[in-house]
Amino acid sequence: MNIFETHAHFDDEQFDNDRSTLLPRIIAGGVSPIINVGASMRGTLDSVALSEKYDEVYAAVGIHPSNYEDYNEGTIEKLRELAKNNKVVAIGEIGLDYYWDKEPLVQEKQREMFREQIALAAELNLPIIVHSRDAAKDTFDIIKEGKEKYSSLRGVIHCYSGSVEMALEYVKRGFFIGVGGVVTFKNAKTLVEVVKDLSIGALLLETDCPYMAPTPHRGERNDSGYLPLIAEKIAEIKGVSIDEVIVNTRRNAFDLFNKVPYNND
Ligand code: NI
Repeated sequence: MNIFETHAHFDDEQFDNDRSTLLPRIIAGGVSPIINVGASMRGTLDSVALSEKYDEVYAAVGIHPSNYEDYNEGTIEKLRELAKNNKVVAIGEIGLDYYWDKEPLVQEKQREMFREQIALAAELNLPIIVHSRDAAKDTFDIIKEGKEKYSSLRGVIHCYSGSVEMALEYVKRGFFIGVGGVVTFKNAKTLVEVVKDLSIGALLLETDCPYMAPTPHRGERNDSGYLPLIAEKIAEIKGVSIDEVIVNTRRNAFDLFNKVPYNND
């Protein structure tokens, strides 16, 4: 069974030299569908273009908190237009990043962008793909507030790095926890606890490539071909077979990204 890749950035310039050979090879190797996630306006447009080029690739459109300079009065309208495309299946990645951006005014803008893109996702009935770094509490508070306003709001906390308790609060609200290469790192104690304590029905597989390559490729360019290493680690933590991890996370991904036509290849 193919692995559902829920978070990749094949638009990244690190793939400029070999994208057109690498992507078909990864797909043929058993990774499909692939959600290519926009982070800037350029990345969003490139994600949509990739989704139009490859049947197996879908796009998420959105502005990452650290690209706040891309976000202006016309942005929501542009994203709304792009989301009419059948291959656009989510709003993301959106959220808060207080690690790279410590200016109070920038953080205020990030919260505003996050709230507005959540409202757009609710309006379009699309899931959100959430980035959160050094901003666990504010991220949770804004999602909680969003969920109270829009009961259908749903999504994934990508590259999850919070506590077990908070993960359970997200799951209670219908959110999924995205698990990538970090789970294979030696110092990933909390994430290992999260994976152990959560039901497999709450987890999604992702790479965040070209970043976050799993062990033994840590520090190298990542790509979706390394997803089996992540599935293997989750299987080991949960004491289940790799197949069980692949089948269940695939079903979870189709549940969340329900604009992607279901298939059981
Ligand atoms: Ni990402």
